[in-house]
Amino acid sequence: MATYIHDLKDWPKFRWSHEALAAPLAAVRFRQGRLIERMEGLGFQLRAEAVLQSLTEEVLKSSEIEGEVLDREQVRSSIARRLGMDIGALAPPDRHVEGVVEMTLDATQNYAEALTKERLFNWHAALFPTGRSGMTKIVVGAWRTDASGPMQVVSGPSGREHVHYEAPAAARLERETRPFLAWFNSNEGIDPVLGAAVAHLWFVTIHPFEDGNGRMARAIADMALARSEQSPRRFYSMSAQIRVERNAYYDILEATQKGDLDITPWIEWFLGCLNRAFDGAEVILASVLRKARFWDAHAEAQLNERQRAVLNRLLNGLEGKLTSSKYAALAKSSQDTASRDIDDLLRRRILVKDVGGGRSTSYSLIVTTANALRAVAQYIRAHADNSVWEGARMPSAEEVADRHQMIGLLADRIDALAEDSRMREVAYAEFEVMLAELQQQGFFPDGQLVSAVAFARQRGQ
Ligand SMILES: Nc1ncnc2c1ncn2[C@@H]1O[C@H](COP(=O)(O)OP(=O)(O)O)[C@@H](O)[C@H]1O
Ligand SMILES: [Mg+2]
Repeated sequence: MATYIHDLKDWPKFRWSHEALAAPLAAVRFRQGRLIERMEGLGFQLRAEAVLQSLTEEVLKSSEIEGEVLDREQVRSSIARRLGMDIGALAPPDRHVEGVVEMTLDATQNYAEALTKERLFNWHAALFPTGRSGMTKIVVGAWRTDASGPMQVVSGPSGREHVHYEAPAAARLERETRPFLAWFNSNEGIDPVLGAAVAHLWFVTIHPFEDGNGRMARAIADMALARSEQSPRRFYSMSAQIRVERNAYYDILEATQKGDLDITPWIEWFLGCLNRAFDGAEVILASVLRKARFWDAHAEAQLNERQRAVLNRLLNGLEGKLTSSKYAALAKSSQDTASRDIDDLLRRRILVKDVGGGRSTSYSLIVTTANALRAVAQYIRAHADNSVWEGARMPSAEEVADRHQMIGLLADRIDALAEDSRMREVAYAEFEVMLAELQQQGFFPDGQLVSAVAFARQRGQ
């Protein structure tokens, strides 16, 4: 039988190389400080939106690591409601969403309070409100038992499972968790970011519950990170990054749990992953700013509540394409009303019709000039063969092919312009030159799309 880290004589006396970790830790702490400073400097609204998005990411991705896909909008509205933010009430979230949100918020908002056995039991009960994990009845709100054999992390088809890890026997759990909790609450002279790394590993190694240990370990790490910042405001999601690096995460956990008590490589991996999570914060910030700019630009627009609600869903990142029936469902309106609302948004060039595609027409949101340019390029590619030939003569196959290629190249150039996302005056002039060149090829892009570029540019986006 394999030996695991918790079988070692000195367990749980973890060791690490201060020398190896000093530089990466300093780098992470520096970036963390800079990030928090920038985010705190945002106005109240933007900051609240950034926190909401970060926490939403955290809940979604921590669950997704374990294969549980939650509804983004439900998670978002559940968090918003608990943080006292008014984002327009939606259908009440399902119990699983509420549970994992409750745990994540308790961990991060009440980070300064002691972590106790009761608190862990409450989190566990919240995670499994039906007393089941999938179809299987499990022990909820209490340590696991050995009733169905030892606790193993396995993969592969049943009967031929590969055992990655075996956790301490159930009889040891009381003895194992007590020192863990005492250490976690003591704040004894270790940098709290290192503490987050150690706590994550320690907890998932004890694996004290029948299920949910991964999600709880990540909530505990978040709690330690909140302590390291002395702030309940989350501006990044470490779980989102772990989700991206899931295979490496499992590998390093497995290697560490089979290794000795020197956990330097685990901590190095954890710090690296956290550092990369800070990059993800830039994406969140960009999305927050995009949304804010969009509403600034449309501050004067007479949009109705339905339109605002659906646009917000699009700005938050709607799964799949927007069709008129989806609009009706989101706005809880009739099909007729949905069509009228959409027509109005098309007139305002806030939505544009997608090209080609399936049976039902779908629409895309235009926020930036770049969005509109890409829509034009897409249209050109889809219709590259529909150019007008002057005169009575039939063009030769070669002429047709040449023209097709020319039109395609112009579409590429328009896409390249879109890359230059804050379009400058000169770039707009370039766009007009390209339109003229298209016309020389007998090609006339959809007028609505062309004016969407002009509209977006005028809005200063
Ligand atoms: N190969 C592995 N070796 C060691 N630990 C692993 C491995 N694969 C997964 N784990 C850990 O076990 C967790 C899964 O445990 P589980 O109790 O099912 O928690 P959850 O249901 O929240 O995922 C993972 O999130 C991860 O932390
Ligand atoms: Mg699980």
